[in-house]
Amino acid sequence: MDIRKVGVVGAGQMGNGIAHVMALAGYDVLLNDISAEALDKAMATIRRNLERQVSGGRITAEEMAATLGRITTTQDLPALGGCDLIIESATEREEIKQKIFDALLPHLAPHTILTSNTSSISITRLASRTDRPEKFMGFHFMNPVPVMQLVELIRGIATDRETFDTCLAVVERLGKTAASAEDFPAFIVNRILMPMINEAVYTLYEGVGNVRSIDQSLKLGANHPMGPLELADFIGLDTCLAIMNVLHDGLADTKYRPCPLLTKYVEAGWLGRKTGRGFYDYRGEAPVPTR
Ligand code: CAA
Repeated sequence: MDIRKVGVVGAGQMGNGIAHVMALAGYDVLLNDISAEALDKAMATIRRNLERQVSGGRITAEEMAATLGRITTTQDLPALGGCDLIIESATEREEIKQKIFDALLPHLAPHTILTSNTSSISITRLASRTDRPEKFMGFHFMNPVPVMQLVELIRGIATDRETFDTCLAVVERLGKTAASAEDFPAFIVNRILMPMINEAVYTLYEGVGNVRSIDQSLKLGANHPMGPLELADFIGLDTCLAIMNVLHDGLADTKYRPCPLLTKYVEAGWLGRKTGRGFYDYRGEAPVPTR
């Protein structure tokens, strides 16, 4: 199937990156959010990130202008109905995603492929509540989307071959690499990454190390580009906790128990970079560890 027009629902951290790479690859993009402010912020972020790519010599100024010209923002969700491919990229809460799909379904063209950028929620369950489980799958990008090479493609139990092949061709057109994951809690990347981050929080909670020493250990001792606590702040501690809960509930194994300290940070509203504070405090010139 030929994909030309891509709808992106949710203009947050992931949604703006998805709109960016889709438009850069030549797709017409309709970027939707309930908040006009979020849409303005997303367009400013896309512009800033495209400028980084221009100054790094990765794209030309003409490509940047053409990319911006291919993105249209809208607060009207039904306007996405005519898209060939829709990527839902709203908050990682099942009831929110469910509401979005319910609102979209009456307006969808019969051929539209519906996907979710969920990092952990069951694709089969989300698909089962739509009118097109065979045209539904997981399309999971990594953050920062313009930089990270991987996209996880997750087939639900009913996803058909054509849908998978069409999404695979989109990933290839983006110049990215797809990993095919089966539909089990948190798929591949987060099944491995989140328990590591959670373990880093336990290491902090138990006083084995402080924020700086834990991050330094993994950066210098395992060549990770970011330490696990810095990465948790980058992803968002609420998202990390939500994924640990999906693993804990879905696999019913105590090894996925979210660390109480992670829960406490989320309860405090210290969600990482996006709120200015998490394992580090970002409100000053340089990040300062909070423990
Ligand atoms: N958009 C466009 N370009 C960007 C960018 C963005 N958002 N962020 C960084 N870049 C570019 C920079 O401009 C720079 O380009 P040049 O080489 O041309 O100068 C290049 O990327 C490297 O960036 P920086 O020099 O600023 O910084 P860095 O070398 O420290 O890299 C990083 C930054 C890529 C974020 C790196 O620290 C990294 O790879 N961190 C780990 C990220 C990671 O693990 N992500 C996965 C999270 S898990 C996930 O997303 C799944 C989930 O469901 C939770």
